[in-house]
Amino acid sequence: MMNASLSVAQMSASAAAPQRAAIPGSYGWPVIGPLSDRLQYFWLQGPQNFFAKRIEKYESTVFRTNVPPAFPFFAGVNPNVVALLDVKSFRHLFDAELVDKSNVLVGDFMPSVNYTGGIRVCAYLDTAETKHGQIKDLAKDILRRSSSTWVSSMTTTLDAMWDSLESQLATAGAGGSASYIFPLQEFLFSFLSLTLLGADVSAFPEIKKSGHIMIDKWLAVQLLPMMSINIVQPLEEIFLHSFSYPFWLVKSDYQKLASFVENGAGETLARAQTEFNLTKEEAIHNLIFMLGFNAFGGFSLFFLSLLSSLSEQKPGVQEELRKEVREKLSNNVLSFETVKEMDLVNSFVYETLRLNPPVPQQFGRARKNFDLSSHTTIYEIKKGELLCGFQPLVMRDPKIFEKPEEFVYNRFSKKSGGDELLEYLFWSNGPQMGTLGPSASNKQCTAKDAVPQTAAVFLAYLFQRYDEISISSGSVTALRKAK
Ligand code: HEM
Repeated sequence: MMNASLSVAQMSASAAAPQRAAIPGSYGWPVIGPLSDRLQYFWLQGPQNFFAKRIEKYESTVFRTNVPPAFPFFAGVNPNVVALLDVKSFRHLFDAELVDKSNVLVGDFMPSVNYTGGIRVCAYLDTAETKHGQIKDLAKDILRRSSSTWVSSMTTTLDAMWDSLESQLATAGAGGSASYIFPLQEFLFSFLSLTLLGADVSAFPEIKKSGHIMIDKWLAVQLLPMMSINIVQPLEEIFLHSFSYPFWLVKSDYQKLASFVENGAGETLARAQTEFNLTKEEAIHNLIFMLGFNAFGGFSLFFLSLLSSLSEQKPGVQEELRKEVREKLSNNVLSFETVKEMDLVNSFVYETLRLNPPVPQQFGRARKNFDLSSHTTIYEIKKGELLCGFQPLVMRDPKIFEKPEEFVYNRFSKKSGGDELLEYLFWSNGPQMGTLGPSASNKQCTAKDAVPQTAAVFLAYLFQRYDEISISSGSVTALRKAK
């Protein structure tokens, strides 16, 4: 059992006794209710406002609503959910005895298994399925084995990325800029292929050149029905959110990625079969998903928000972070151990994850009838109901975080006791600080520690290399190298 339920109990003890109430909100008329909610969600309000407005309307952080996708070509998909929007109610999603996580990674809608080689990969498996434990153990083993070369592979690949951005910037001349979005994705793809799979992209020229684009397309096509893109409306609603897309659009790219894994990741594939009892097919498709969806997809979003958080800070913040990095590295090389000592850098990383959790929604289906508590109220959940937590609001819970809307770069600083808040940082689908951590009996991200550590290395590298970094809307506009 999760330690989460213990903390929920502790929280209850400190607050006034919660009252029982019926869950507010409704699903509206069939077809019209879900369609109207979908238009508000994507178009009129946007996801965050959609949930925030309903908190106000119902004066409750738990309520019934519809979430996309819905109408007209999602006949088998039930859009009805119970939204959980405060830290206390959200934590029920971590309790494997209460919720079933089978096939609900992105809600009641599940992209076709054709996107994953015809099998249900780890992220769609429930904790009660034996295969879930086998694959999760493989993921853990991969991270453990690669940890000793992680930082050195990362810095070598980062050297290439920043060398190239510097020369692009020099070519652009005064007032010019260099976009870092694709260079960042190229870096992520080759670095993650090497560390997670042991596959070196330089031996596969087509993959080296376009592996990241192949993954971008594969992700986009399967996730489009639920993605908010903010292009011209109502075109987005009519063309992008009304039906799911056929796999053949990306079939040939997927086959190239599968052959890359088969030929480039031989050792990892062999271990998956001999030590973790997976078939070769299960291993290949789970590794593609881990590399492409979990790691590459997660880091692409996360590092983009990390860089934009950096660009939005007052100049003094970069200065403080740089000072800390240079001080800690004065007699040391960059490593997981040295970045652990960088209190402010780590806090900055956690604060970015708090305000911009890269995977914004988590779902779970009630295994049985149970009582669910928010900070103030107890609600009755019925077996089979789908619970939907929306992290960007949960991570702004004013009962837990002071000035919740503000980016407070030292909020989680150990020195000022802020690290206690890590118990309430949920980006990994579990608390950042806790006794159990990711395991076969929960659905917490296997890379719960590796992800923030990698981000801290990314920042420390930048502050070691540059005296000043200027960034504006996805581009670097100036880089002053360290003297
Ligand atoms: C910034 C990067 C990442 C983010 C934001 C992220 C986020 C998440 C989240 C939110 C989940 C839970 C999904 C759910 O059930 O609702 C998850 C699961 C998972 N992640 Fe990550 N992840 C990242 C990187 C990685 C990496 C590098 C690995 C490599 C091993 C990884 C492996 C997994 C696996 C195997 C699961 C499934 C866990 C299970 O089924 O029990 N993730 N990740």
